[in-house]
Amino acid sequence: MGGQNPYLSQIEVPLPKTKYRVTFLPMNKTVEVDPDHLPQGYDGRPGSVLSIALANGILLDHSCGGVCACSTCHVYVKSGLDTCNQSSDDEDDMIQEAPGLEDCSRLGCQTVPDGSKDVVVEIPEWNRNLVKEAH
Ligand code: FES
Repeated sequence: MGGQNPYLSQIEVPLPKTKYRVTFLPMNKTVEVDPDHLPQGYDGRPGSVLSIALANGILLDHSCGGVCACSTCHVYVKSGLDTCNQSSDDEDDMIQEAPGLEDCSRLGCQTVPDGSKDVVVEIPEWNRNLVKEAH
């Protein structure tokens, strides 16, 4: 799956201009994101937390293919949330379906850090069985 949901408003999201790092919890895996080599061909918005996870072997669940039509990619942005794009009305509506909402809750497929700071992303406890790391 993948692509774009044609029913969603298409908003421009700024992409990072500098290298930065994302640490995924609880596996405590840190990856570097190079704006000149953003993950290509993965689900989610270009430069999204989901695409970065998938490109680095972190199989974050994403039932709708990263088009903001489910809430299975729910993550907590524990650090660097202020560097991420604002959530859209569509994301705000969809994330209401996710359990365990916190102020730092976002949909991984819609969340794009701008690279101005490192980011820490935690995958909620109840999704951890769905998360596998490639070896
Ligand atoms: S994968 Fe469905 S909303 Fe993100």
